[in-house]
Order: sequence, then structure tokens, then C-alpha cells
Amino acid sequence: WIFRLLFMLGLLLVQDWRVEYQQQHICAVKGSSVVIPCSFHYPETYKVQSVKWGHERCDIYKGPFIFDSESNDASSRFQYIGDKHHNCSFKIQQVEHNDTGKHAFRFVANSRNDQVKPWTGSVGSVLTVVNLEVVMTKPNGNRTTMEGDSVNLTCINSCDSENDVSAFIWFKNRELIHEGPAFYLSNISPANSGNYTCSLKSHKGTTSEVISIDVEYGPKNTSVSVRPSADAVAGSNITLTCSSHANPAVENYTWFKTNEQITVEAGKEPELYFREIFPHDGGQYFCSATNKYGSQNSSTVTLKVKGKLVKIVIILVVYLTLSCHFVRYILFHITLYTSKYNALMFSPCCSNKNETLFSG
Ligand SMILES: *[C@@H]1O[C@H](CO)[C@@H](O)[C@H](O)[C@H]1NC(C)=O
Ligand SMILES: *[C@@H]1O[C@H](CO)[C@@H](O)[C@H](O)[C@H]1NC(C)=O
Ligand SMILES: *[C@@H]1O[C@H](CO)[C@@H](O)[C@H](O)[C@H]1NC(C)=O
Ligand SMILES: *[C@@H]1O[C@H](CO)[C@@H](O)[C@H](O)[C@H]1NC(C)=O
Ligand SMILES: *[C@@H]1O[C@H](CO)[C@@H](O)[C@H](O)[C@H]1NC(C)=O
Ligand SMILES: *[C@@H]1O[C@H](CO)[C@@H](O)[C@H](O)[C@H]1NC(C)=O
Ligand SMILES: *[C@@H]1O[C@H](CO)[C@@H](O)[C@H](O)[C@H]1NC(C)=O
Ligand SMILES: *[C@@H]1O[C@H](CO)[C@@H](O)[C@H](O)[C@H]1NC(C)=O
Ligand SMILES: *[C@@H]1O[C@H](CO)[C@@H](O)[C@H](O)[C@H]1NC(C)=O
Repeated sequence: WIFRLLFMLGLLLVQDWRVEYQQQHICAVKGSSVVIPCSFHYPETYKVQSVKWGHERCDIYKGPFIFDSESNDASSRFQYIGDKHHNCSFKIQQVEHNDTGKHAFRFVANSRNDQVKPWTGSVGSVLTVVNLEVVMTKPNGNRTTMEGDSVNLTCINSCDSENDVSAFIWFKNRELIHEGPAFYLSNISPANSGNYTCSLKSHKGTTSEVISIDVEYGPKNTSVSVRPSADAVAGSNITLTCSSHANPAVENYTWFKTNEQITVEAGKEPELYFREIFPHDGGQYFCSATNKYGSQNSSTVTLKVKGKLVKIVIILVVYLTLSCHFVRYILFHITLYTSKYNALMFSPCCSNKNETLFSG
């Protein structure tokens, strides 16, 4: 019976040294923190000297360990939240994908007569790290999002079980905009363009991938500006600029000019440039901006071109001077044949002083 007694004693001893993991499978979202609950047992006669946690990528018996009470590192993501009696719970902050795998607890205890005994709970707790996912559904199934469309964004935490659904929050360009598992955008406008993410409400450090919504639309706010002014002086330079908001950007510009109710095309560039403007360039101008979703016409601007007063005077003077000489010349030749000496008296505007020019 002595063998039986020894066997039972041995069993008792084995049972006395043990580590219990309350959750053998733990799922966590990347960026969140997770607690691995744990308790450990050893004979009363022993006293715990050191505690360690290891990851299966290293030797869970020999280490190196991700936590070791003998080499304190307070800044580490790994925190021992248990004690040196029976609680060996472990916390991992800002969980990363490479934290996936088995985590095991090891402790070293001394007996009264300084016998040192290490023990590893080799079963361990297996950690799974997942990403938050965003599923975007569009009723019309199009790849691109157009003004007026609706879009449904749903946040999914694949750690969730049926009776345990996470609370989610939504961000647009990093600003909180919504709480709840789904975010529904109806009758989308250009202002809805942006980068969307979701997070777990309980763990602000978690974030899904970025969903970029780029709302496309036809030209809007098409307008014409005139530099330097729509009241121009003949001979100066004038620039008309067509501006418009569109996504994708405006592909084609067309300029139109209306004069006496006839509209003609006046250009194909975003800018209409007159290096030297003439009075006949005056009139009503508008532009049309086009992308793949359509066209929009601007309102019209009226370009007024004033002639230069000085120019008119010069032209008048030249005209009068020329006509004067011309008339005098003609009259002079006519009078040559009629009355050789009295002709110059009929000249309408010139004095007699220059008559020597034509005499002889
Ligand atoms: C172990 O300690 C942690 C942190 O102090 C506590 O949350 C947990 O309830 C404890 N576990 C047991 C079994 O006492
Ligand atoms: C795990 O990944 C993080 C960054 O993603 C890195 O800093 C760390 O060194 C990695 N740890 C191991 C053990 O590979
Ligand atoms: C997008 O959906 C609209 C209907 O809502 C359809 O008229 C259009 O052809 C679709 N565009 C593409 C690129 O599939
Ligand atoms: C958006 O999607 C979620 C999850 O699929 C669904 O429960 C919800 O009814 C949808 N909302 C709309 C307005 O389609
Ligand atoms: C969205 O993200 C893209 C790529 O990261 C970036 O280029 C863009 O500027 C972001 N948009 C906004 C509105 O922050
Ligand atoms: C068009 O102009 C209005 C009013 O100025 C402005 O609110 C709107 O954002 C503009 N639209 C675009 C696409 O720029
Ligand atoms: C247009 O006229 C302004 C003065 O009215 C002058 O400063 C500018 O250089 C001219 N531009 C060109 C391209 O001739
Ligand atoms: C822009 O003009 C080019 C050349 O005339 C034409 O091929 C193209 O279809 C036009 N684009 C749009 C959006 O109308
Ligand atoms: C813009 O004006 C042109 C020329 O008058 C016309 O043919 C076209 O239909 C107009 N476009 C729109 C969108 O009103």
C-alpha cells in the first residue's frame, strides 16, 4: 500500500502545482487592451519568488519572457495585474497582430528549506487579434459615389458573438460624427466627401481601415470673372476667367458671346484673353463648364469697350487735314482749267498762304 500512498501523494502534489486559465480563447480588436484572467496554486509551504508571462513564439519554460517580475519595465505594453499569491491575471495594452498566439504563466517558488521550484501552466490562453472592418453597401451598386446616392457603412467586430455586440463610434476626418453599428448617408452631397473610420466605443485606440468617400458631381457654381474690369478701354488687355466646381474636374470649357440675340462660340480655354480689345469685342459673354456628369452655363457678363477719346480726336484731325488738302488739290486742278488766277478764292478751309505749293 505504500506505493499507492506515494502515488496518491504524488497526484496531490501534482494537483497542488497548477495554473488555471479561465478563458482559453480570447479575441481582441487591434489597438484595444485585453486581460488574460489567470489563477495559480502551489503548496502552502512555498513562497512565490518571481512571476513571468511568455508567448509561444519563444520558449514558455526558458523564455525570454514578455513579462518578468525580476526585470521590471513599467513602460511596457505588458502589465502584470495579479499578485504573488494566487492571482496571475495579465493585461496587454494596444494589442498588435503579432500578439496573436498562446500566452502562458510561469512562476518560481521557494520552500522553507530553500528548495526552488519553477512551474509553467503550459495550457495557456490563446489570443486572437482582429481588425475592425467596415462594410460599405450602396443600393445602386455603383463603384463611384455620385451626388444624391445613398451609402450604408457598417462596422464589424468579428470578435463579437451573437449576444454580445460591441458599441461603435464613427469618425469623419478624425472627428466624431455618429454612434452605433451602422452609419447611413442618404442623398449624399459633396460635403459628405471624406475619410471615414469606426472604433470601439470602449477602446478609443482601436480603428478600422479608412473608407474614403469621394462624391462626384457635375459642374456647380460656374461663374465668370473679368480682369481688370468689364468696363474696358479700347486697346487695353482683358481676361475673362471661367471658374466652376466639379468632381471629376471640368474637362471642357466653352465660351459664348451674344450680340443682338445671336450667340456664337468664342473660345475653348478656361480663360478668354484679349491682348488688345476693340469696341466690336463688346457684348455679353458666358461660359459653359462640362465634365462627364453634364454641363453648366454661367450667368452672363457684359463687356463694354469705350473708344479712346484721344484716338478719336487724332483720327478726326487726320481725316480733316487729309480731306482739306484733297479738296484743295482737286479744286486747284479744276480751277487751273477754268480760271487760272481766281480759283484759290473758293477753297473752303485753307488759307492762301500755301498756294505756292501748287503753283507753277
Ligand atoms: C485578479 O486581479 C485582477 C486585477 O486586480 C482582478 O480584476 C481579478 O478579479 C482578480 N482575479 C481573481 C480571481 O481574484
Ligand atoms: C510586433 O509588432 C510591433 C509593431 O507592429 C513591433 O514594434 C514589435 O516589435 C513586434 N513584436 C514582435 C515580438 O515581433
Ligand atoms: C450608376 O447608377 C446609375 C443609376 O443610379 C446608373 O444610371 C449609372 O449608369 C451607373 N453608373 C455606373 C458607372 O455604373
Ligand atoms: C445599413 O446596414 C445595416 C447592417 O447591414 C442594416 O441593419 C441597416 O438597416 C442598413 N440601413 C439602411 C438604411 O439600409
Ligand atoms: C483622406 O485620406 C487620403 C489618403 O490618406 C488623403 O490624401 C486625404 O487628404 C484625406 N482626406 C481628408 C479630407 O482628410
Ligand atoms: C457653391 O456655392 C455655394 C454658395 O456660395 C456654396 O455653399 C457651395 O459649397 C458651393 N458648391 C461647391 C461645390 O463648391
Ligand atoms: C495687360 O495690361 C496691364 C495694364 O493694364 C499690364 O500691366 C499687363 O502687363 C498687360 N498684360 C499683358 C500680357 O500684356
Ligand atoms: C471634351 O472635348 C473633347 C474634344 O472635343 C471631347 O472628345 C470630349 O468628349 C469632351 N468631354 C466632355 C465631357 O464633353
Ligand atoms: C448653355 O448655352 C448654350 C449656348 O446658348 C446652349 O446651347 C446650352 O444648351 C446651354 N446649356 C445649358 C446646360 O443650359
